[in-house]
Amino acid sequence: MSIPEPSTPKATLPGATLYAMRRDPLTFFTQLAREQGDIAHFSLSDHEHDLYLLNHPDYIREVLVTQDRNFTKWFAVDRIKDVLREGLFVSEGDFHLRQRRLSQPAFHRDRIASYADQMTLLAVRLREDWQGGAIVDVCREMNWLAMMIVASTLFGADIESDAEEIRAVVSDILDQFERSVLPQADRDDFEHAMARLDAVIYRMIKERRASNIDKGDLLSMLLLAEDAEGSREKMTDRQVCDEALTIFLAGHETSANALAWSWYLLSQHPEVEAQFHTEVDRTLDGRTPRMNDVANLVLTARIFAEAIRLYPPLWAIGRRAVRECRIGDCTIAAGSVVILSQYVTHRDPRWFPNPEAFDPNRWTTEARSGRPRFCYFPFSGGSRSCLGEGFAGMEGALCLATLAQKWRLKLVSGHPIALQPQLTLRARHGIKMRIEPRV
Ligand code: HEM
Repeated sequence: MSIPEPSTPKATLPGATLYAMRRDPLTFFTQLAREQGDIAHFSLSDHEHDLYLLNHPDYIREVLVTQDRNFTKWFAVDRIKDVLREGLFVSEGDFHLRQRRLSQPAFHRDRIASYADQMTLLAVRLREDWQGGAIVDVCREMNWLAMMIVASTLFGADIESDAEEIRAVVSDILDQFERSVLPQADRDDFEHAMARLDAVIYRMIKERRASNIDKGDLLSMLLLAEDAEGSREKMTDRQVCDEALTIFLAGHETSANALAWSWYLLSQHPEVEAQFHTEVDRTLDGRTPRMNDVANLVLTARIFAEAIRLYPPLWAIGRRAVRECRIGDCTIAAGSVVILSQYVTHRDPRWFPNPEAFDPNRWTTEARSGRPRFCYFPFSGGSRSCLGEGFAGMEGALCLATLAQKWRLKLVSGHPIALQPQLTLRARHGIKMRIEPRV
């Protein structure tokens, strides 16, 4: 494939444009890409370094894979580091490599398989809790489900009594994230919420270490992991705590959004919804789904993949160049920031004709083989790719199928749908849906 000439003249954005970017970054980045092409070079009046929005799959591959050593992670919200500390999502270099090596076994295919029953158990609990005719905010419902799933697979049986406490504290912390300036009183609340969360996690770690039992969950995996390639050292309590918190946060907001948007899209496409119901009924014949069913829930998986194309839970990724490097014909100076936007690339008509249309058939093997790898990167790629990709795919298929065995969700008429690109791509007003029995 030929790579179009990059356009590198730099646009310095005046205050009004800066405001437009902050107010509606999705439209702003989409327009920038359409106007300036595969490399959009700009600077912001309040930002000392140059920024580049890269819009070609080949350039995205360069940053994430081929030249990953030339870049470190860059976060638009610096406070993310106050929460995730030295956890996998934010750590760098050799320490990141070691922690990733230690955490990876917990996400191995065989391990994830053992989490499947936990996922459906919780989805069944929600399914039985729902009442026909009730109106719910599907974002909240999926948030509960995804949080309980990651909590119970992470901490196993220990979580039940602490789940509500953890849930409340985590939503406090996430709310604080969304505000750009924190007054001191809120800052104190934030520290207090973090301390409460630490206390719960440290207690679990202490109890687990004392019992010395491998419960087969993520917490046991993290505590038992030994660095065979390095010093054979295990993680300290502090490191286990940071990783547990990271996986907990990275692993539920994202999945919850993906599930919520899937329900919304299904409600808008009755013909796909009908095929989805047929697949669920035929594959499961009324049984609760199990790990082995996932391979047969082909359309269900495609619906999930297409939902995160249109509504990628992480809608942009930032990287900072640690040294001068070249991307295409463009020299990127050390210190510059490159932005890769899943939202923009996933809606590029060169790779996805009629990009706004919801079409799960884009995910047949044949359709996929005609596209470059990095035109779709909801889970990023390379050395910093999502550790939970397999987990999330299985969770998506199992939760959608389990809930759809009994219910369909109908968007409440007149409910406004608007995107809210924050840490994750949320629905600004939630997604109000009516629960209807399937007959
Ligand atoms: C649909 C659901 C999900 C999406 C779209 C998603 C997306 C991503 C993306 C894009 C990154 C990389 C960010 C970057 O390169 O800067 C990432 C990293 C990560 N994700 Fe996910 N994620 C999902 C679910 C999960 C789940 C379920 C877990 C764990 C249970 C998880 C754990 C992680 C971890 C630990 C990292 C950091 C990896 C590293 O830097 O080494 N994610 N995720």
